[in-house]
Amino acid sequence: MALRFPQLLKVAEEQQNSKYSSGGKMIPTPEEAATFQPQVVAEGGWEKCWEDGVTPWDQGRATPLILHLLDSSSLPLGRTLVPGCGGGHDIVAMANPERFVVGLDISEKALKKANETYGSAPNAKYFAFMKEDFFTWRPDELFDLIFDYVFFCAIEPEMRPAWAKSMYELLKPEGELITLMYPITDHVGGAPYKVSVSAYECFLFVSIRTCFLFFPFGTTPYCKLEFGLSRRGCFLLPQNLFLYFSKLVFVKLQEVLFSSPLRVPLGFKAVSIEENPDSIPTRKGKEKLGRWKKIN
Ligand SMILES: C[S@@+](CC[C@H](N)C(=O)[O-])C[C@H]1O[C@@H](n2cnc3c(N)ncnc32)[C@H](O)[C@@H]1O
Repeated sequence: MALRFPQLLKVAEEQQNSKYSSGGKMIPTPEEAATFQPQVVAEGGWEKCWEDGVTPWDQGRATPLILHLLDSSSLPLGRTLVPGCGGGHDIVAMANPERFVVGLDISEKALKKANETYGSAPNAKYFAFMKEDFFTWRPDELFDLIFDYVFFCAIEPEMRPAWAKSMYELLKPEGELITLMYPITDHVGGAPYKVSVSAYECFLFVSIRTCFLFFPFGTTPYCKLEFGLSRRGCFLLPQNLFLYFSKLVFVKLQEVLFSSPLRVPLGFKAVSIEENPDSIPTRKGKEKLGRWKKIN
């Protein structure tokens, strides 16, 4: 059975007061971000942050939005993944007999803390912390739900295409991705790196060009992916090499002459994008809730 709101609040309060809590220190403001980055990058990465207790993003309790979604029964059930789970607060809040939650982190120290704090929680058999890299880990069983908070902004922006690819590969068909998009600011550097709704869309959608090509050999629909998640690939299967290369030449030529770029959602569709109604004060106005569905 799911916990009701007063119980959830109690869980959050207990988390806040636990020996582990960082005292509610928040992720750095954009102004602080510049000094946060050297710490992460130059001084040994995430592991070092956790070892030194430099975890200013950690709220020491479950994310209020998660408690709200639980209370309003609007958080999907089923196998759930939280990449970059850190201290594990959201994992424990979400876990119940109908929702098994996997918290993933590359930091051994983070997971040690999470296990120390929550290992004997009453719902411990409904969650697991795993030391795995989100970009390479591929379990046998896929997920119904993935929740990303302060993970997208924590990875290098160059990793964002790989982030979207991993999301796609780890979700079941029709699975849901919930992103709490933060920080929506215009600061330079990171982590956290600035984000925007279009930064997410850019990688969860894909641009394709479509054109119908006329060949001496017949008419061939052609769909070329510029980048992204589709498994469709190129449709041109060569009957023989001559045909193949002739087609490539025609394709290139006609792309230049006739086609226009077309943004088409592939892989995910946006179900809703809205202000986070439950932002903590220091993040108000800087974060949005995005709900996405995997569509193919
Ligand atoms: C800024 S923290 C956010 C933690 C948590 N989501 C929260 O809101 O408190 C980012 C976390 O992602 C983890 N991380 C970074 N790269 C990762 C990767 N490739 N796979 C899994 N975890 C990763 C770090 O160790 C760190 O604990």
